[in-house]
Amino acid sequence: MKRRFLGTPNAKQREFLKATERYVAYGGARGGGKSWAVRCKAMLLALRYRGCRILILRRTLGELQENHIRPLCESLGDVASYSDGKKRFTFANGSVILCGYCAKSRDLQRYQGQEYDFIFIDEATQMEEYVFSALKGCLRGTNGFPKRIYLTCNPGGVGHGWVKRLFIDRKFKEGEDPKDYRFISARLSDNLILQEQDPEYVKALESLPSDMKRAWLDGCWDLFEGQYFEEFSREVHSCEPFEIPQDYRRYMAFDYGLDMLACLWIAHDGHGRFFVYRELHRPGLIVSEAAKLMQEYTMGEHIEEIYMPPDMHSRQKDSGVTMAELFARGGIRGVCADNRRVPGWLAVKELLHPVDDGAGEMTPALQIFKNCTTLISHLPALRRDDKNGSDVSLHPHEITHICDALRYFALSFKMCEKKEKTTEDPLALAKRRAFAKAARGTKGHRCF
Ligand SMILES: Nc1ncnc2c1ncn2[C@@H]1O[C@H](COP(=O)(O)OP(=O)(O)OP(=O)(O)O)[C@@H](O)[C@H]1O
Ligand SMILES: [Mg+2]
Repeated sequence: MKRRFLGTPNAKQREFLKATERYVAYGGARGGGKSWAVRCKAMLLALRYRGCRILILRRTLGELQENHIRPLCESLGDVASYSDGKKRFTFANGSVILCGYCAKSRDLQRYQGQEYDFIFIDEATQMEEYVFSALKGCLRGTNGFPKRIYLTCNPGGVGHGWVKRLFIDRKFKEGEDPKDYRFISARLSDNLILQEQDPEYVKALESLPSDMKRAWLDGCWDLFEGQYFEEFSREVHSCEPFEIPQDYRRYMAFDYGLDMLACLWIAHDGHGRFFVYRELHRPGLIVSEAAKLMQEYTMGEHIEEIYMPPDMHSRQKDSGVTMAELFARGGIRGVCADNRRVPGWLAVKELLHPVDDGAGEMTPALQIFKNCTTLISHLPALRRDDKNGSDVSLHPHEITHICDALRYFALSFKMCEKKEKTTEDPLALAKRRAFAKAARGTKGHRCF
């Protein structure tokens, strides 16, 4: 066989080529050389493990054709035969590289039930988590070859949340072994070839709006294109837990489905400050279990109002009972939340906006206790809806539940307050200002 020159990897690409963890994500900035590294690694694995099966996946057929099939045809030439019908490269040693795409959930059916030794998901942040979960199930075989999934990613996209959770934040769920996950960061500055040959591309990235530039040029994962709550910042909007003072009013808001119970407990200081002080995010609970758990979490506190979605008050066809009645039997008596979407999200934005704290300092009306980690990670991951930029996208579905609960609270509380609005008595205002000043002097609240 003729020797072929595939190119020289840069330092980060070399790290990626050598990585042997089960799940390796390579990503960050645009143009770092990720797709090149995918093709290079796939070819090397095909030659190294005789008879292995490799899958390279992209979101659409067009992207697959441009990014992988065409360059692979050029690189492999007579080393592997290509079947366009099957989108498959077959090597003389029996190895195969299959090129696939997955734009919709039904595209996944083509790969389920198949066995692969190595799977590459190029632009994994363009796919939802179920694609990754399903492909994990295809990573198997009895040939003794290692089994690995390699992902590449840029911040942003429908899969931003789960890629960030696993590879950047490293917040693992039960059954996920941290040792299996490795992240290798790629920056445009790593790809010297592109910088030399296409300086215009670098200029184009540098001229992007600042948030996109931070995401695509520097590989920053906290901001991304299409983010709904761009103003959200962990530093500003989260605080250390403290004991809720007696005179604060407490509220609950929740979203319920068998797929997820998402409940928030919110305290109001009576002067425009809100604190999310507890959260519950649990799948697979029937109503009685959900109600029991919510009761246990509430720990006998006095709750002014519990906001639940209006559809809980519709009668179920089979039993004639409403979900709200079932919750009430379990001790959770809620009122109908105002669940209008756009006004609800705007009400959340108002809560995140900095306001005068009464002592001349600007702080947001809403703060989230640092131990409410689900809300803190899901709220900034929400994306704008493609068709209606004022609304939040329904995808990825799993990050919407706890944010919906916050939306129910934000709008329902606002509407109630509007009705009851009274002017604050000047003496109370002076007292509040003095209290805020004193509290700042003691550097925050008393912690648990
Ligand atoms: N080691 C290398 N040797 C030769 N060319 C390379 C090398 N690495 C990357 N390139 C070239 O640099 C360009 C950008 O690389 P690539 O498409 O892999 O970047 P990317 O990180 O996948 O970009 P994007 O974020 O836009 O998907 C391509 O033309 C690619 O062929
Ligand atoms: Mg690429």
